Amino acid sequence: MTFRAVASSTGEPLRVVVVGAGAMGRAWLGVVTASEEVELAGIADLDVAAAQEAAASLDRAELPVGSDAVELAQRTGAQAVINVTVPEAHHPVTTAALTAGLPVLGEKPVAESVSRALSLAAAAEATGELFMVSQSRRWNPQVSALKAMTQQLGAVGTVSTEFFRAPHFGGFRDEMAHPLLVDMAIHPFDSVRFLLGSEPVSAWCQTWNPPWSWYAGDANATAVFEFEGGTRYVYNGSWCSPGAETSWNGVWRVSGEKGTALWDGDTDPVLEAEVGDAAEASTAYDGIAGALQVFVQALRSGETPSGEVHENVMSLAMVEAAVQSAGAGRAVRLDDVLERAYDEALQAEQREDVRAALTGWSSVRAALAGVR
Ligand SMILES: NC(=O)c1ccc[n+]([C@@H]2O[C@H](COP(=O)([O-])OP(=O)(O)OC[C@H]3O[C@@H](n4cnc5c(N)ncnc54)[C@H](O)[C@@H]3O)[C@@H](O)[C@H]2O)c1
Repeated sequence: MTFRAVASSTGEPLRVVVVGAGAMGRAWLGVVTASEEVELAGIADLDVAAAQEAAASLDRAELPVGSDAVELAQRTGAQAVINVTVPEAHHPVTTAALTAGLPVLGEKPVAESVSRALSLAAAAEATGELFMVSQSRRWNPQVSALKAMTQQLGAVGTVSTEFFRAPHFGGFRDEMAHPLLVDMAIHPFDSVRFLLGSEPVSAWCQTWNPPWSWYAGDANATAVFEFEGGTRYVYNGSWCSPGAETSWNGVWRVSGEKGTALWDGDTDPVLEAEVGDAAEASTAYDGIAGALQVFVQALRSGETPSGEVHENVMSLAMVEAAVQSAGAGRAVRLDDVLERAYDEALQAEQREDVRAALTGWSSVRAALAGVR
């Protein structure tokens, strides 16, 4: 999609407000203050004391703070917003920023539901501002290396991820209906779309909660996704599995016509294939610092970045399809998830310009793929 570029003829850094001064907000503040490409203009949080504490922790107690990201950005002359609020606040905070003429770099998930995510994609169109989702694994150099290997395997039959860990978080994850699928699995789901360069067609998922689980919701999930072209992606995970824990990225296998690529999630992936050595993986970016660099470059150049909202929505749709499949006890088509979310988005939309953008879509798939 085309969006308004923010040129810098003088090479001055982009002035940003970070909104959300929680655990992940602090990680972003570290990255923002270490970057030469951006300058921290202020910190916003509904809890202004939390914003003040975050500023003090950077030895910047004089930094402007506030409860509202747009008001703070306008007061400080900021040019963009980094949204690290809780998922339920992603839609209102990002919509307000885009409407005020501020591009947004937002934490995953794009929103708390696919319907709200579609509204955000339409809001980006209506305002002509860039909204990029930071899905941190996209900028993991080992994932890029695995993608380069995958491209050498010919047709791919199966991709699998095994994820088995036993974290005791306390807090909201312990109370959610689907903590593993909703809070964690979006990372590998986004990664498999990136690896294959294709989109999911259907999901078949079972979730359950082992008797010893310390979560209220289902901590175990096994899902099979069919992708365009017939590749199956198998996700097998648990968040209450003590012993022999996998890495936080899980353990990956890509099984193709000409061989297999393996990744333990922590060290460089390995290729066992007729084709010999993998091509050099190319990514100059790493983690959320990489996402920030890509965001600034996109704003300077006007070129659409990986993670632009339209392109990101299908990762959340995989989560929603898996949850719906587990509830229904049958396979669920991604197109049905999208159509249902689209109807909900139209019904719930408060803004006329966003509704007009949504109404102009010929189909949700086409709109997300950038085709009108
Ligand atoms: N990429 C990753 O690996 C990763 C890891 C952890 C969290 N996250 C994501 O980061 C986001 C934040 O997670 P967290 O763990 O920091 O949460 P958190 O609860 O620690 O912090 C969220 C902060 O947002 C503030 N907030 C809520 N609504 C707001 C609003 N409308 N306006 C301004 N401030 C508001 C809260 O007061 C709180 O201080 C979530 O989307 C989460 O999924 C990503």
